[in-house]
Amino acid sequence: MSGGGFRRVGVLISGRGSNLQALYHAADRVGGYEIGCVIANRASAAGLAWAQAQGLATACIPHQDFAQKADFEAALQHELVRHNIEVICLAGFMRLLSASFLDRWPGRVLNIHPSLLPSFPGLHPQQQALDAGVSVSGCTVHFVSAEMDAGPIITQEVVPVLPGDDETALSRRILNAEHDLYPKALKAVCKGHVHWDGASDRAAIHQPVLESTVNGS
Ligand code: GRF
Repeated sequence: MSGGGFRRVGVLISGRGSNLQALYHAADRVGGYEIGCVIANRASAAGLAWAQAQGLATACIPHQDFAQKADFEAALQHELVRHNIEVICLAGFMRLLSASFLDRWPGRVLNIHPSLLPSFPGLHPQQQALDAGVSVSGCTVHFVSAEMDAGPIITQEVVPVLPGDDETALSRRILNAEHDLYPKALKAVCKGHVHWDGASDRAAIHQPVLESTVNGS
């Protein structure tokens, strides 16, 4: 096993924050991590108010306050370091992080996407799945690289597409799976069961995520 030994998680959000809530509520049950801060790039993000109400450390860093992306990312970095963050979870965070930011966090930035990547990256993946006529879709937790929704896969959960589904119905079913999967994937990374060096095409899976959970290790 290599890597791992992380514990303190920074969660980056832009909106609703249901995955943030799932990560928070699962922290005790699943174990292996704690939420050290929540950062939003929008003051109106519902997840930010929710995090404040839980007494979590929060910050709002509006990207439009910065002329350069590098300055926005320097502010993010400052806040993450201030809270001794070791791993970053993107949870509905609608900004692309640059390679120079990510180089400071090799194998330490995770994202969740509501499709079975590499199918349907980008916006409206649930509608993309419906348009393609697939019978299953799902969600993917992956390491973040500079290319959108393209970093090495950590784990995935399959969700059926049912007759009569619209974007709302499929999104809801996939979101339930997201809330189950993201905490388990985060724990696996924190424990070093899954590791990415920041450069290879694939992550090193020392112990599959769901197996780690079953064993409770
Ligand atoms: C989720 O579907 C996530 O997969 C995607 O954005 C959505 C965020 O939802 N990246 P929430 O803010 O966590 O409720």
